[in-house]
Amino acid sequence: MDPSFGEIDKLLAYLKSTRGFDFDAYKRTTLQRRVQKRISLVGLSQYDEYIDYLEVHPDEFQHLFNTILINVTSFFRDLESWDYLRETVLPRITEARTGDDDSIRVWNAGCASGQEAYTTAMMFAEALGTEAFRERVKIYATDLDDEALGQSRLASYSAKGVETLPDGYREKYFERVGDRFVFDRELRRSVIFGRHDLIQDAPISRVDLLMCRNTLMYFNA
Ligand SMILES: C[S@@+](CC[C@H](N)C(=O)[O-])C[C@H]1O[C@@H](n2cnc3c(N)ncnc32)[C@H](O)[C@@H]1O
Repeated sequence: MDPSFGEIDKLLAYLKSTRGFDFDAYKRTTLQRRVQKRISLVGLSQYDEYIDYLEVHPDEFQHLFNTILINVTSFFRDLESWDYLRETVLPRITEARTGDDDSIRVWNAGCASGQEAYTTAMMFAEALGTEAFRERVKIYATDLDDEALGQSRLASYSAKGVETLPDGYREKYFERVGDRFVFDRELRRSVIFGRHDLIQDAPISRVDLLMCRNTLMYFNA
């Protein structure tokens, strides 16, 4: 039997009170579909049973959050947006930011496992040169998901994961470590990862560029 509609509220209240995650603003139908899939996967069929299961399997919270939050991402995802950013947006920012304070602040909200933030770093490094990038640019990359943030900080990606990089970028911006590719250590210093909940936390202020892609669509309008 499928978990019935309505009961998910109990599970959401439970997640809020025990873990502080507030999924009220998330689209209900998407949430239910994902959570039900996870419940079936652990061999259960009711939200009530699943709450009991979470009580005795704390590891399950992370699996549930991974199911709900969806960390799908990639380097240069949706290439046309990056072309637009490079050709139209970056020149405006770099030209506007001159004189005494030529620093550039970027906020990448919903950064998942870091590819978007590092893609942004490569874009700015190409536009400004590595040295000026290091001096001028700070990229604040945030997400709700601690596991994804951990992966972001490691900056280590599989060969498949770096396939979407433009020609020459893998060699230029990544170090090969065994069968993994690790993003450039120097450029990484300008990318600061932190936990931030778009629903509950105050926004980062004074940003020149705010990137928030494939994230708001999970929330209610
Ligand atoms: C599909 S990924 C998008 C990743 C990247 N922006 C991209 O477009 O490739 C959505 C991200 O939003 C994050 N997310 C979901 N709810 C969030 C919230 N309330 N606050 C911050 N991040 C959230 C998820 O953890 C996930 O990493």
